[in-house]
Amino acid sequence: MSWTFAQIIVIFTVISSVCMAAPVVSSNNVARSYLQLLTRDEGSAAAATPNIMFPENAQLKFSLAAEGTQNYTCDASTSTWVNIGALAHLSNSSLEYDPTKLVGFHYFVNETGTLSPEWDLSRSQPNNDGNNFVVATKIGQFTSPDGPQNVPWLLVQGKEGGLARFVMRAQTKGGVPHTPNCDPSQSAPLLVVPYTSIYIFFD
Ligand SMILES: *[C@@H]1O[C@H](CO)[C@@H](O)[C@H](O)[C@H]1NC(C)=O
Ligand SMILES: *[C@@H]1O[C@H](CO)[C@@H](O)[C@H](O)[C@H]1NC(C)=O
Ligand SMILES: *[C@@H]1O[C@H](CO)[C@@H](O)[C@H](O)[C@H]1NC(C)=O
Repeated sequence: MSWTFAQIIVIFTVISSVCMAAPVVSSNNVARSYLQLLTRDEGSAAAATPNIMFPENAQLKFSLAAEGTQNYTCDASTSTWVNIGALAHLSNSSLEYDPTKLVGFHYFVNETGTLSPEWDLSRSQPNNDGNNFVVATKIGQFTSPDGPQNVPWLLVQGKEGGLARFVMRAQTKGGVPHTPNCDPSQSAPLLVVPYTSIYIFFD
């Protein structure tokens, strides 16, 4: 079959409208504004957060508030506390954890010998498709603007699951051992340090 002139014009129009789509607003700026809104902070937290913390070409989905523990064990070779994962409850509330709005859990999974963080909303949501989780890898880290007594802010990239392409941990409070050092012969096998944070999900 041969193409008519009108068909060619239609195809050209479709292709050019796709190619010349409206300029994308930098997701960087959207994420920054969102963080400012969440933290009700006009300056410091969002402004101090480096660009690496805001995934480019990603869309903001939502944020959840978390409350849980960061767990540590005493490393015998270095006599320091080493993080061995965390367990937290996730609530559908923007800033403060609200137990009446529990929607999921954050924990670590041991896959092929490495611990990976997971956010799992698949158990508590109606109409879930079983894919409502994300297992991720850390790609960025940033000392909390509120001080090093709070676990760092993080950006992780999803490697499994359909919940999000990126997750950012921000507004952290606590979660760090009082002293970095421990005595392997004296310390309890597990040190559990409470923390709260928000997790911001991007697609
Ligand atoms: C972390 O500690 C909690 C208790 O707060 C425990 O339930 C959880 O299994 C621990 N997870 C890891 C990875 O150690
Ligand atoms: C959070 O609550 C809002 C409003 O009820 C709802 O639209 C949204 O789907 C919920 N998000 C999650 C992740 O459960
Ligand atoms: C992960 O699991 C393997 C096999 O069960 C175990 O040998 C390893 O110590 C675990 N790694 C961590 C970091 O817990």
